Amino acid sequence: MTASTLDTLLTDGVTGRRVLVRSDLNVPLDGGAVTDDGRIRASLPVLEKLAQAGAKVLVTAHLGRPKGQVDPQFSLAPVASRMAELSEVPVRRAEDLVGPSATQAAADLADGEILLLENVRFDPRETSKDGAERAALAAELAALTGGSGAYVNDAFGAVHRRHASVADITSELPAYQGDLVRDELVVLERLTESPQRPYTVVLGGSKVSDKLAVIENLMARADTLLIGGGMVFTFLKAQGHGIGNSLVEDDKLDTVRGFLAAAERHGCRIVLPTDIVMASAFAADAEHEVLPVEKLESGAHGAEALGLDIGPETAEAFAREIGDSNTVFWNGPMGVFEMEAFASGTAAVARALTQTQAFTVVGGGDSAAAVRGLGFEESGFGHISTGGGASLEYLEGKSLPGIDALQR
Ligand code: 3PG
Ligand code: MG
Repeated sequence: MTASTLDTLLTDGVTGRRVLVRSDLNVPLDGGAVTDDGRIRASLPVLEKLAQAGAKVLVTAHLGRPKGQVDPQFSLAPVASRMAELSEVPVRRAEDLVGPSATQAAADLADGEILLLENVRFDPRETSKDGAERAALAAELAALTGGSGAYVNDAFGAVHRRHASVADITSELPAYQGDLVRDELVVLERLTESPQRPYTVVLGGSKVSDKLAVIENLMARADTLLIGGGMVFTFLKAQGHGIGNSLVEDDKLDTVRGFLAAAERHGCRIVLPTDIVMASAFAADAEHEVLPVEKLESGAHGAEALGLDIGPETAEAFAREIGDSNTVFWNGPMGVFEMEAFASGTAAVARALTQTQAFTVVGGGDSAAAVRGLGFEESGFGHISTGGGASLEYLEGKSLPGIDALQR
């Protein structure tokens, strides 16, 4: 089974039709301003393509996790403004999702215009565990298209969610796969099916538990796993090192020991840091020093210190590994990159990715935002995925509800 493509829809003809597109416009905001518009820019090509072909384009999307209630803090209004600045076609906004504002705006929409509906997660049915509730919302969303409509899923970052606007909606409208979803899948397929070796995976982020399944799955596929970020300390503790007050998941120590043994069987090298930036506190202005992993508790703050970044020797070693690779997938920052004093490890990995000859993929909203936030040009990377959880779940080999729903 394969999904119908956007090109098929365009060939069938969209002039005058209302086409509902699910996009992932879940961008970071700071005081009502969009701080990283990567997902908006990635979503616009499909919306503009449809509008320029004469469709009336209705866009449904989520922002944050508002828990099924209207919460102004999670309004898509700032996203609509940014979209209007970037778009080549007119962008309008509805003040609700399927209520009077959306219904009127959908009716008034002209061919070639885009209408952004309000946050789909303001409606509790979007994320409901009850399929009948989700189906009811999907039917109301479909009704906005007025009979001759179509649905396009272009929200790659949300395809791992069994939500009304992602999965159930395909029972209500003829459904098509957007170009962003297609392009993301092509890249991820390349990583899972035929990666050019050596294939190195760089994993960071704070929670081991979030990454357990992916570590297990990738050990069988990758040649080298470079581990940084907060989850490093669970590995170091599992190896018997003192880690001071660093983040640790004690209930995962045995699992991690199992990984270290399994990696050997799979012929996959797990490379852990040899030095760490230990700080006096979790603060941007904390005192800090670089210590070897065998002596993390031997510094000025003893066992009170906590690790907030990989050290320079590790950063150099990771950069060398990346330079020697032909394929690199990176997910998760190496340290607390939001604080300048602890951003060097993440910056070193990002820089190495821009310098290697390898095919490089950055997965995850946070890593992608880190890359752009630290000032790296996007063109320096092979592919920056718009999906965090979605790309990891794909690499884990899980089935993705939003993708499955398109294949019928
Ligand atoms: C993301 O930010 O990873 C996607 O937009 C999905 O958001 P969610 O994790 O809140 O479902
Ligand atoms: Mg997320």
